[in-house]
Amino acid sequence: LREHEEFTKVKNIAKIELGRYEIDTWYFSPFPPEYNDCPKLFFCEFCLNFMKRKEQLQRHMKKCDLKHPPGDEIYRSGTLSMFEVDGKKNKVYGQNLCYLAKLFLDHKTLYYDVDLFLFYVLCECDDRGCHMVGYFSKEKHSEESYNLACILTLPPYQRKGYGKFLIAFSYELSKKEGKVGTPERPLSDLGLLSYRGYWTRVLLEILKKHKGNISIKSHLFLTGSCTFMQELSDMTAIKADDILSTLQSLDLIQYRKGQHVICADPKVLDRHLKAAGRGGLDVDVSKLIWTPYK
Ligand code: ACO
Ligand code: ZN
Repeated sequence: LREHEEFTKVKNIAKIELGRYEIDTWYFSPFPPEYNDCPKLFFCEFCLNFMKRKEQLQRHMKKCDLKHPPGDEIYRSGTLSMFEVDGKKNKVYGQNLCYLAKLFLDHKTLYYDVDLFLFYVLCECDDRGCHMVGYFSKEKHSEESYNLACILTLPPYQRKGYGKFLIAFSYELSKKEGKVGTPERPLSDLGLLSYRGYWTRVLLEILKKHKGNISIKSHLFLTGSCTFMQELSDMTAIKADDILSTLQSLDLIQYRKGQHVICADPKVLDRHLKAAGRGGLDVDVSKLIWTPYK
């Protein structure tokens, strides 16, 4: 029954138009009831208002004067910009973004209370404006040390490194806050793949460097208090649990003679790094102009 319900719901909004793309949707999203009978929704790519008919969108585009997300540009490098949108100051935009994102996010509940969130919207900019590529949301105050609630790369832009960029960006914000962070659970399959890739690259690059410093043994020892984990966590803003699960999933933690040992054999590390894929688009921290939300 549930499957059928999902299926019939999904069929309602099968496609969206956004900027120069027509995009097939993936999942149900709880748009207001009056939109439930349209097979295709037309989005303004700047304010994210959505309409039932193309002519409405064309009329809207003539009078909409936004050319980028309604917030502060906190990062610019080449044609890539990141905007921070406060859900409290831009409620409608926040809600529109959630409706749009839910079309591609399965397990996530939709937040109607966008007041409590900041939205970090990644754009490719040209002379026509700043075109949204993806985004992540973040709670203004998280008790569970979440540094990211939902992440999305719009389908036409997927597998180009933007997801990795957004993840890296979320950790750069955590570093500026002086906090460790972790993504809200559950993670989707694609989310987990992307996070695992990010964690693997960041942690193994550090392990490789440490190896050079530790001249005698090719192992780094975990003491009972896990001070090494703590150090890794401080350097990367990655939560210790995520470090442990990443190293465990790569089979890099072994238990020898009553002690935990992290294998830092350069050959093994290089093999895992290769398998973790391309680094992709880097965040240039010198171009991030931001102070934590208070
Ligand atoms: N098939 C196999 N591997 C994939 C795929 C895919 N379709 N997509 C991503 N990956 C893996 C790859 O390892 C890839 O690295 P590689 O290209 O070097 O091999 C890595 O993930 C990241 O690739 P990116 O190009 O950086 O990521 P992308 O821009 O595609 O964004 C994201 C990843 C955000 C998860 C995207 O797939 C997406 O928006 N999915 C739908 C929404 C979603 O599931 N979000 C996560 C939910 S969990 C949460 O929000 C906390
Ligand atoms: Zn608009």
